Amino acid sequence: MTSKIHNLSISDEGKTVTVNGWVEKIRDHGGVIFIDLRNDLEILQAVIEPEERKIFEIAEKIRNEFVIEVSGIIRKRPKGTANQKMTTGEIELFVKKLHIFSKSKPMPFQLDEYSKAGEEIRLKYRYLDLRRPEMHKNLVMRSDINHVVRNFLVNKGFLEIDTPMMTKATPEGARDFLIPSRLNQGKFYALPQSPQLFKQLLMIGGFNKYFQIARCFRDEDTRKDRQPEFTQIDIEMSFTDCEEIMKISESLLIELFDKVLGVKLEKFPRITYSHAMEKYGSDKPDLRNPILLHDVKELFINSEFKVFKEPANSDKSKLVAMKIDKEISRGQIDEYTKFVSNFGARGLAYIKVNELKKGEKGLQSPIIKFLSESEIKNLISRLDLKDGETVFFGAGNKRIVFDSMGALRQKIAEDFNLIDEKSWKPLWVTDFPVFEETPEGSLTPSHHPFTKPMSTIKELEEKPELAVSEAYDLVLNGFELGGGSMRIYDVNEQKKIFSILGINNEEAQQKFGFFLDALEYGCPPHGGIAFGLDRIVMLMTGEESIRDVIAFPKTQSAMCLMTDAPDKILNEELEELSIKSTIEEND
Ligand code: AMO
Ligand code: AMP
Repeated sequence: MTSKIHNLSISDEGKTVTVNGWVEKIRDHGGVIFIDLRNDLEILQAVIEPEERKIFEIAEKIRNEFVIEVSGIIRKRPKGTANQKMTTGEIELFVKKLHIFSKSKPMPFQLDEYSKAGEEIRLKYRYLDLRRPEMHKNLVMRSDINHVVRNFLVNKGFLEIDTPMMTKATPEGARDFLIPSRLNQGKFYALPQSPQLFKQLLMIGGFNKYFQIARCFRDEDTRKDRQPEFTQIDIEMSFTDCEEIMKISESLLIELFDKVLGVKLEKFPRITYSHAMEKYGSDKPDLRNPILLHDVKELFINSEFKVFKEPANSDKSKLVAMKIDKEISRGQIDEYTKFVSNFGARGLAYIKVNELKKGEKGLQSPIIKFLSESEIKNLISRLDLKDGETVFFGAGNKRIVFDSMGALRQKIAEDFNLIDEKSWKPLWVTDFPVFEETPEGSLTPSHHPFTKPMSTIKELEEKPELAVSEAYDLVLNGFELGGGSMRIYDVNEQKKIFSILGINNEEAQQKFGFFLDALEYGCPPHGGIAFGLDRIVMLMTGEESIRDVIAFPKTQSAMCLMTDAPDKILNEELEELSIKSTIEEND
C-alpha cells in the first residue's frame, strides 16, 4: 500500500513506507543522492546512499519531473538538517526500493519561474502549469466552492437538473456559438448563453426550486473577468419574490465565504441602479473606494462656461465633480485626461485647491477664469473643499460622463492606494432599467428580455426608457458576481416586450415560439439569479484573471493554445454538413 506524503511525520519514524509522485528536485551531495518527491503539493525528501548500488545507478538517471515510486524506512533527519518550512521537514525516507514509472523531457519552463516564461507557454503546456502550487490550490478551492454551493442548495430543497447544451439561442446580449447539424442539413444548434429559458420552462414544468452548475457559452470579447466558455451557479424558484431570492443568495455567499475562507461577510447594502450611477458612475461599484461623484448641475445653470452650462441644462447630460484628498501632479492630470478620452470624454476640467484663504488665487485651474465668484464659492461649500484637494469634472453625455468618471474614480483610488485590499464589500444593485439605448439609438434589454418590468404595459409603451425592472445584481469589490430578476409570466406582456425591442411576431415565433406557447399553459410567478462561478473563485483565490481559476481556459483571442482549438476542419467534413467556407485556402 502506498502512503500519502502529507500523512507522514516524525511519529512514523522507523516505519517502512512506499510513496510516489514527481521529482521536484534531485541533488547529488558527495555520493548521496537526495530527491525531493512531490505529490498533492507536499514534498518528502528521499535519500539514496551509495551502499544501495543498484538503486543508486537507477537514481543517477533520474531528472526533474520523472514519476517514481520509492519504498524505504522513515528516519529522523540528522541534527541541523531539519527544514521547518516543510511539513515533513523533520523526516526523510531512506530508500530501499526505487521504480521509475515514467521519464520527463526537460521542462519547457521551470515551474518556479513560470512568470518569466509568460502566459502563452503556460497555456500551451497547461498540464505542466497545473503542477504549480498556485494553480493546484486554485483548483482545489474551486472544487471546495462547488461542494459548498451544492450542499447549501440541496439542503434548502433545490433540485439539481441539467439542461441541454445543444439547443436554440438563449439571448443574453452576446453572439451565439453555433453547431451545424449533419442530420438536419442547413440547420444549426446554438450553445446556450445561459440556461435562462430552460430554467423558466422547468418552473412551468412544476419544479419549484431548481439549480444547476451550468456551462454557458458567449461569443463576445474576452477579458480578464470573461471567458467564452464559463460556469454559472444558476438558480430559479416559483411562487417567490425578489426578497426571497436575494435572501437565499446572500446566505449562500455568506456560507461560502465563511466555510471556504473563514471570512464573515457583513449584511449586503442595497442601492438602486440610478443611485449607483449617480454616486459611483458604475452599476458595479467598488464600495472599498471612498471617492464619490457629486452632481453639480444646479451650480452652473447660468454659467458663462459653456462646457458646464450646456450639460447643466440638458436632461440627457451630466455634470459631475469628484474630489480627491490628494495633490495630483500636472503629469498625472495629463495622464488622467488621456484616460477619460478613451471613454469618449472631450476633456477633464480640474481645480487644484492650494490655499483657500487666498481666494481665487489659491486655486489652480485652467477653468477658473471662466467661472464667476459665486460659482466658485458655491462649489467650495457644496464639495466642502479643503487645502490640498483636487477636483475633477465630467461634463456632457450621460453615458460618457458615467463611464469615464466611474473608471477614473477607480483608477485614482488604485493609483493612490485608497482601497483596502483585504476587505470585502458586497452590495445589491436593484431597480435596473428594463431597456438600454444602443449607440445607434435602438433599445436592447438591460438584462434579458424575460425580465419582469415594474411598469405597466401602457407605461412601457409610452416611455420605455423610463421603465424599471424587478432585476438585481450582486456586486463584490467592483465585480458583478451575479444577476437575476423576477420573470414575465404573462404571455401578452412577454410579446409586448419583444415588440418594443423591435422583434416582430414572426421573428418572436421563430425564435421563442416554444416558450411563448409554454407561457399559455399555466405559468407560475417565478424568478431567479445566476452567479459567475469563475468570478467568485477568482475573487476568493485573490487572482486577477479568471484564466487562473479555470483548468483549461481560452486566451484573449478565444483560443486554446494547448489543443489549438478552434481549428480548421477537412473539406469532406464540411461537405457532410453542406457547409462551404468562404475563406481562401491560404488565408
Ligand atoms: P448574466 O448574463 O448577468 O445573467 O450572467 C450571470 C453572471 O455570470 C457571469 N458571467 C460571466 N463570467 C465569465 N465570463 C463571461 N463571459 C460571463 N458572462 C457572465 C457574471 C454574471 O453576473 N440568465 C441570467 C441570469 C438570471 O437572470 O437568472 C444571466 O445569464 O458573474
Ligand atoms: P476647452 O474649452 O475645450 O478648451 O476646455 C476647457 C477646459 O475644460 C479644459 O480643461 C478641458 O479639459 C475641460 N473640458 C472640456 N470638455 C470637457 C468635458 N466634456 N468634461 C470635463 N471637462 C471638459
